[in-house]
Amino acid sequence: MVYGIGIESSCDETSIAIVKDGKELVSLKVYSQIETHSPYRGVVPEIASRAHLEKINSLLSVCMEESNLKFSDLQYVAVTGYPGLVGSLMIGAQLARCISLVHSIPIVLVNHLEAHLTVIGLEHDLPTFPWLGVLLSGGNSSIYIYKDFGELELLADTRDDSLGEAFDKVSAILGLPYPGGPIIEKMASSFEIPKGEKSPFPKLLKEDTQDTIRFSYSGLKTAVMYYLKSFTGMPPIEKIAYYFQKTAFELVVRNITKAIEKTQIKTIVAAGGVLANETLRSTLQSEAQNRSFQLYYPQKKIYCTDNGAMVACLGYHLWKEKKFVGLDFKISPKRNFEQIL
Ligand code: KG4
Repeated sequence: MVYGIGIESSCDETSIAIVKDGKELVSLKVYSQIETHSPYRGVVPEIASRAHLEKINSLLSVCMEESNLKFSDLQYVAVTGYPGLVGSLMIGAQLARCISLVHSIPIVLVNHLEAHLTVIGLEHDLPTFPWLGVLLSGGNSSIYIYKDFGELELLADTRDDSLGEAFDKVSAILGLPYPGGPIIEKMASSFEIPKGEKSPFPKLLKEDTQDTIRFSYSGLKTAVMYYLKSFTGMPPIEKIAYYFQKTAFELVVRNITKAIEKTQIKTIVAAGGVLANETLRSTLQSEAQNRSFQLYYPQKKIYCTDNGAMVACLGYHLWKEKKFVGLDFKISPKRNFEQIL
């Protein structure tokens, strides 16, 4: 039995988890800073790092207590090293160093984006590589070719806003709260489409060829803004939310289809905060059935957002490959894997 601890503090969630054999959750604690940042409608880095500092030790104590384990039972401490907010990453990194130094436990440094993809290992056996990793979150809209642990090749990226960011910005435009995803999803689901009605928003990136795979959501945000301005009375918020979501997800589906055709890889792992969206989950599921690809995404919604379990899970595989780092390891805001070496 191999027990490992995962520490996540890259953005606005402070989280600690203990995982057994890289696939069984023993304990998970997540402290979300959403309420702290919501008056600013986005994450304020300085506030985020202070909040991590205030919470992280107590989360560790609760996790250890709940697991009935001693530090001497742990074989590794996995910590998110990149990408993320530097001040926030530093808090988790320092805790990992302390645990390692005091209890002589090796540290493994985890790529946050890769961890989002491997978290499915807590719900299934991991599929055989390569996979197409589709990351849809507040900071990313990207597709990777995931070849092996630590080996990701960027296949598609956004040229402006990420999908989660678009939900957050459109929510602000509509006068709805932050974060935008859950409330827009709720509004969209209460809209009843009149028969034959057409979307007020254009198809995104319709000029792109079969070979060009990319995301772009800032044009859709602008289209929402102008459409809203065309109403003098009460605007139809549910309708706007519905067509915004539909248009945004249509690009996700189109890009996944193109990526499968380009790479001939038929194992898709989708992850990140936006995968909490039920419409996206069911749309991808029916695409997987119709187009015969294997689809995985975190079933538990807590695994969609940032969490320590995903860090401990990927950490196990890196520990098995003896990819340890010394106490002087570096952290990085960048997602380019070579940058931190
Ligand atoms: O992965 P994540 O928790 O963290 C960051 O990337 O920081 O993703 C957060 C993003 C936010 O932009 C939020 O609006 C979006 O995920 N989100 C959703 C839903 N729940 C969260 N987007 C669409 N539908 C949802 N139900």
